[in-house]
Amino acid sequence: MPALSQPLVAVYPGSFDPITNGHLDLVQRCAPLVDRLVVAVLKNAHKNPLFSLEERVEMLKEVVRPYGNVEVDAFDGLLVDYARQKNARVLVRGIRAISDYEYELQMALMNRRLAPEIETLFMMAGEAYSFISSKLVKEVIGLGGNISGLVPPSVEEKLKQRFLGRD
Ligand code: PNS
Repeated sequence: MPALSQPLVAVYPGSFDPITNGHLDLVQRCAPLVDRLVVAVLKNAHKNPLFSLEERVEMLKEVVRPYGNVEVDAFDGLLVDYARQKNARVLVRGIRAISDYEYELQMALMNRRLAPEIETLFMMAGEAYSFISSKLVKEVIGLGGNISGLVPPSVEEKLKQRFLGRD
């Protein structure tokens, strides 16, 4: 187990396809709590992502730039193996509603079984963001709806280019 004097590293894993303002709110609130926060994008999502891994990493890097202790990386394989490589003691996940809880609990308990020294930290989504998901944002813009305020402006531009073929 790492000594308490070691820097506290946390990993915030996800698909981030794409990052939303809900994800960004969590980054903003978590960054001051830890020494280093690694936002880790899953490489081999079984889901068919809208944005490539490189695009997702690029978009994340742009929006977390203001936070000096936040970095963006990609990972595949087991999350706990990656967290160990990073000397992380904490996995961070956001919870929006009760519906998130069951899946998150399963993952947290499995991860704890695989790596008891790593703790999962759940953070409640800010109430202004508790209805936002990457999936819904893509559905809304795909059907011509307004997604302003749901994702960072740079991400909104990328989504518009992808769905509407314009800047
Ligand atoms: O944003 P998502 O899609 O809800 O994130 C899910 C993620 C990336 C956290 C999860 O799929 C994951 O950790 N995948 C890595 C493989 C792994 O460790 N699986 C066992 C988890 S209990």
